[in-house]
Amino acid sequence: MELKEKIHQEFVKRFGQDGIVYASAGRINLIGEHTDYNGGFVFPGAIDKVIMAEIKPNGTEKVRVYSIDIDDYAEFGLNEDDAPTASWARYIFGVCREILKRGGVVKGFDAVFAGNVPLGAGLSSSAALESCFAFALNDLYNDNQIDKFDLAKIGQSTEHNYCGVNCGIMDQFASVFGKKDHLMRLDCRSMEFEYYPFEPKGHTLVLVDSVVKHELADSPYNKRRASCERVAKRLGLETLRDATMEMLNDIKSDISAEDYFRAKFVIEEKQRVLDVCDALTKGDYETVGKCMYATHEGLSKDYEVSCEELDYLNDIAKESGVTGSRIMGGGFGGCTINLVKDEILPAFIKTAKTKFNERYGHEPKVYEVIISDGAHRETPKD
Ligand code: GLA
Repeated sequence: MELKEKIHQEFVKRFGQDGIVYASAGRINLIGEHTDYNGGFVFPGAIDKVIMAEIKPNGTEKVRVYSIDIDDYAEFGLNEDDAPTASWARYIFGVCREILKRGGVVKGFDAVFAGNVPLGAGLSSSAALESCFAFALNDLYNDNQIDKFDLAKIGQSTEHNYCGVNCGIMDQFASVFGKKDHLMRLDCRSMEFEYYPFEPKGHTLVLVDSVVKHELADSPYNKRRASCERVAKRLGLETLRDATMEMLNDIKSDISAEDYFRAKFVIEEKQRVLDVCDALTKGDYETVGKCMYATHEGLSKDYEVSCEELDYLNDIAKESGVTGSRIMGGGFGGCTINLVKDEILPAFIKTAKTKFNERYGHEPKVYEVIISDGAHRETPKD
């Protein structure tokens, strides 16, 4: 059954009336990993996989919400000490609280939601969930007066304050601002961004999902961020945005080897985003691909956020003649993103499935990437 219909049936069953339907997207990132919280550049786009919710104000101060995918119900108030314990519900509670903290309006509502963003695959299902509710509550209670950047920041603060992940702005930005057939180059310091048409000729972007799950809360993700902040501080900078390899090498003996390699990756990755944007404009997919492989290498060896399965998928891509391949997102499991020439696509997918299955006893999942719109309302208001 279609996602919208499935949600609607459940909504009517539970709450006995029609709500308004909203959706927001998961994201891919062509290049620029772990650069967002370092004031660098990222190059994401929203995809055709969404979290969708049907919502209706209920005239009380209580939120009543059911997750179809988790098959769990939560009910909570809107004050700080009303926080639900279920982790999925904390995303929604967090969004409500962050809107209220910024002076916005939120009142009680009923909601049912579900999605088709694969969980734990590095496609930002949590940002899609936050952005879906932030967009909806802006529309329902705030006359859409909350600026779109603030909607993204509301999602990001939810991660920081209610979910334990000190993430950057990339995922929520992509989920809110995504535009069909376009990637976005975002400068995470100035927050200026530009849409880039993305229709790679003769190539397809595919995700190969190792189905290894990652957990970012209390995780090495926050430690990576702390390393970068230590080095920036040591250099007297606000972020690593203005750091160069020369500056880093000058302080090499004063910092730990681990911090050195984390910062080295970020400094190199910053430049790769700019190189990829230029190459893409010229239709130079070879350069795009080379940068993607270099990012994988850096994420694996210097930033240490890869894992055996993802390194193996990267090796298979290389051996199969894939133009570019790398681990995508925060790391510690999830997907590789692959830029593949159309003529070798079927053979690559077949080889990846067979070889991975031989070694790990299960096939990876494969998704073709379709760049789509970000947060939106699905149904008319009245
Ligand atoms: C996660 C975070 C993002 C970003 C990426 C790595 O997806 O939520 O802010 O840091 O990891 O690029």
